[in-house]
Amino acid sequence: MKPVLLAQLSDLHLGAAWEGVDPRPRLEQVIEAVRALPNPVDAVVVSGDLTDSGDEADYRLARQLLGRLEVPVHVLPGNHDLRGLLRSAFELPGEGEAPINYSGEIGELRLVILDSIVAGQDPGAFDAEQLRWLDEELSKEPERPTLLAMHHPPLTTGLPEWDAINLLPPERAALAEVVGRHPQLRAIVGGHLHRIAASALAGCPVLSAPSTYLQMLPDFMPADFEDDDAATWTDPPGFALHVLLDGELSSQVELLGPNHGG
Ligand SMILES: [Fe+2]
Ligand SMILES: [Fe+2]
Repeated sequence: MKPVLLAQLSDLHLGAAWEGVDPRPRLEQVIEAVRALPNPVDAVVVSGDLTDSGDEADYRLARQLLGRLEVPVHVLPGNHDLRGLLRSAFELPGEGEAPINYSGEIGELRLVILDSIVAGQDPGAFDAEQLRWLDEELSKEPERPTLLAMHHPPLTTGLPEWDAINLLPPERAALAEVVGRHPQLRAIVGGHLHRIAASALAGCPVLSAPSTYLQMLPDFMPADFEDDDAATWTDPPGFALHVLLDGELSSQVELLGPNHGG
């Protein structure tokens, strides 16, 4: 049987200039690497922070560049995004600034997208309505292998600055309660950390995919907890590749070396 291939791009941050680095050529390089894979991917999910500051022109650019992939692209908002502009740029369901939740089919794999952002703040959260939607959505196809994607990955890193702007323990516990009821979930994937990290929630694997822009160097004991600029950024750009074969999911990561793609 042919495997289902889903590429995950995350944290594009178009419009940023962190440490003087331009995100656009890095995204273009990642897109080319996806296109140069030995087997074509069936779809792409983009797990948030498409733009750095919610600029409309950057959303148009994101749409244009991602169009080069020539496969269905499923996007979701990150804390740097504005839902309304993301929604109109990519013709997403729902209206205005309402949470962006939807699901899609990629062959036998079901993709469920859950909005984890709170407008105007960095940490993620889920209100009761969001979790009710997720529970109902997952109940619709209890037998079908499903991947759940959101911006904030439900895991703890031990990096105080990052854990403080991710999903706090009560949010993870509330999500775990829903996840535990749906054993068809093969993995929960996110971004936000700009760092490859793996864990589990209610027995379900959790993966944080690398950024197409810059990765974060971990400081487990920062000297200055309040210093926003304390994060140190590093190379290389990358993306995740999720492979479903005979109902089993394998999540893999591709990092771009200088000779990637020949
Ligand atoms: Fe980000
Ligand atoms: Fe983020």
